[in-house]
Amino acid sequence: MTTTRDVKRIAVVPGDGIGAEVTNESLAVLEHLRETHGVAVELQHFDWGADKFLREGVSLPEGALEILSNEFDAILAGAFGDPRVKSNQHAEDILLGMRRGLDLYINLRPVRLLDARLTPLKDRTTGEINFVVFRENTEGSYIGAGGFLKRGTPHEIATQEELNTRHGVERIIVAAFEYARAHGRRKVTMADKSNVQRYGGDLWQRVFREVAAGYTEIEANHQYVDAMAMFMVLNPAQYDVIVTNNLFGDILTDLGAALQGGLGMAASGNMHPGRVSLFEPVHGSAPPLAGKNVANPIGSILTAAMMLEYLGFTAAGEAVEAAVGASVTAGETTRDLGGTLSTTEAGAAIRRRIRAGS
Ligand code: NAD
Ligand code: IPM
Ligand code: MN
Repeated sequence: MTTTRDVKRIAVVPGDGIGAEVTNESLAVLEHLRETHGVAVELQHFDWGADKFLREGVSLPEGALEILSNEFDAILAGAFGDPRVKSNQHAEDILLGMRRGLDLYINLRPVRLLDARLTPLKDRTTGEINFVVFRENTEGSYIGAGGFLKRGTPHEIATQEELNTRHGVERIIVAAFEYARAHGRRKVTMADKSNVQRYGGDLWQRVFREVAAGYTEIEANHQYVDAMAMFMVLNPAQYDVIVTNNLFGDILTDLGAALQGGLGMAASGNMHPGRVSLFEPVHGSAPPLAGKNVANPIGSILTAAMMLEYLGFTAAGEAVEAAVGASVTAGETTRDLGGTLSTTEAGAAIRRRIRAGS
């Protein structure tokens, strides 16, 4: 539980590819905050990832979920995915295993433009791209249900099932409205494909209307997800809080990442309030960039800031966000943002700004 320990305990799982490089920069920021903001955290590293899987055949070790939920307040992860593991089995076991196994039903992914120069959209100001996505994180198309019939024959049939429970749909929609209320957001928009996905869509529609009725001060509206993908590009300023299912949330948040400067910028938290929660950047292991000291560490560092705020270190989290904003505006960035810095130099620039108070 997050409230009982004086010194918060963080499990660090860097994972594969650039995961380790960007996580190192987040850890350096945490170390720095010990001095500047008195943030006392205890870190324990776990080597779960492709190397261990290939070496020992172990992805998420037995008993790992119990250890995480009993002994830690938060998990800081990098990325999982390696070209040597074609099946992606280890990534699924570790990442989806933690999300589902720890019942982390909220995947909160902010989309916030820190500097107008970063967005590929023409003539957009920072105020126009500033919303949060609540992605359902434990069910939908991610449950791994389905199967093959006559596999490998010309008459093959593959089914892939989607699960929507009343409990699961309700709790993510409630979380979105609660967040809107707590953060002074005026609108919650639900995205679905209820014009085609009649049963799941119908459930989401009904629950959305019922929950919205309890939040009369917040505007509740609905868009089909295909239209939302278009409007996110044409008119992102209309969004405040978006709530959607697991798969649509995955896709829309890569688009959202692009709006704020690319995957290297996007942060995310997998949460179950009051329980150990998992923080990881939106991006993957980016194999072509791995080991070159070129990956953008900001997605991971903003993720660490989210984690700090979740753990109650609000001032420290805000200081990190301010430092990131200032370093982006000063052009102290990696190449994906048009700068010339390496991963480690970009991290150092952010730490300098934390010390200087941005
Ligand atoms: P990716 O996010 O790794 O890369 C997509 C694109 O974004 C690439 O062009 C990459 O260079 C760029 N990019 C990503 N992060 C960046 C950063 N920090 N700085 C600069 N550029 C960055 O997605 P992908 O290529 O589709 O997937 C690669 C592997 O990662 C796959 O195995 C995939 O399954 C896995 N993956 C894991 C996670 C996760 O662990 N949460 C998320 C997405 C993908
Ligand atoms: C993400 C990733 C994961 C997902 C993959 C790697 C399983 O794309 O975190 O966005 O689909 O959720
Ligand atoms: Mn994704």
